[in-house]
Amino acid sequence: MKRPVWIDTDCGVDDAMALLCACALKDIEIVGVSAGVGTTSQENTFRNTRNVLALAGRKDIPVYPGSKTAWIEPYMPAPAFHGEDGLGGAVIPESDAPVETEYAWDAFYKAAKKYEGELTVVTVGALTDLATAIVKYPDLPKYIKEVDIMGGAIDGGNTTMASEANIRRDPHAAQCLFKSGIPVVMFGLDVTEQVRLTPADREEIFRKNTSVTRLMEESIQIPLSTNLRQGLDTYTLHDVCPVLYLSKPELFEGKKAAVYVETQSPLTMGKTISDVYALTDDKFPDKNTLVMLKADREKAVSFFKELMLSYE
Ligand code: RIB
Ligand code: CA
Repeated sequence: MKRPVWIDTDCGVDDAMALLCACALKDIEIVGVSAGVGTTSQENTFRNTRNVLALAGRKDIPVYPGSKTAWIEPYMPAPAFHGEDGLGGAVIPESDAPVETEYAWDAFYKAAKKYEGELTVVTVGALTDLATAIVKYPDLPKYIKEVDIMGGAIDGGNTTMASEANIRRDPHAAQCLFKSGIPVVMFGLDVTEQVRLTPADREEIFRKNTSVTRLMEESIQIPLSTNLRQGLDTYTLHDVCPVLYLSKPELFEGKKAAVYVETQSPLTMGKTISDVYALTDDKFPDKNTLVMLKADREKAVSFFKELMLSYE
């Protein structure tokens, strides 16, 4: 049996690439996808997710509507990295797949029960949908094998000096996941920032003209101009990392540690605090997170290219 996987996304530019990579993996079965607020509104992320899956030829994968707001924090879109619509203005056909109306957390709980503890969850947006399911269904943790998140940072941040966007958007939900006892694999900025596409990598991908490479080329222009204004000509594959890990865990190295989220201080709100570099602090007893710290950049980028170029 293929490994059952659920993906929760706030479908922006790198989320789209992550979904396309996931659809190209041969050894997983994507049993459901949920789309919540994040890079842009929930309405946009829901539409983008449906359209990206249709582009991948996977209209059969159900997409469920996730949260329209974070639990407490205000809406924090990122138009400089994803455009106003989440896909950097790239135009792709509207999916005509049936529209699911069941809420993400309810559909997700049903799937988790159905797979009896074998379901792996990949989250590439805020943790709101997953944490809502954890609160609504207290027996949920025992049905989840592992949650692979793109989020957080042991050092630094990208939304504020202290926080990464997916955790900053809903720190309370993130803290709920880290405290739930579910095994978490954390792909924070510490590792995702190592997996960057150079101009040469992008050219190699764009030489093959398919609807998938065209979407990538069009959607990447806004974040690339933002990066260039900051002196960077690379593009970081944040959300792609936990997807690559599903099939090739050997691309990443990490350490088991405890992770907590700052939910009080206005200055460091959303910071992920970990004892990863000092595993003896007794304030940090719950070492249920594998914090990824190192990626094999060459192999990860080459696997990414292989998956993106597998579409005709
Ligand atoms: O910090 C990177 C994360 O923020 C990614 O998930 C990206 O899609 C944005 O939401
Ligand atoms: Ca994302």
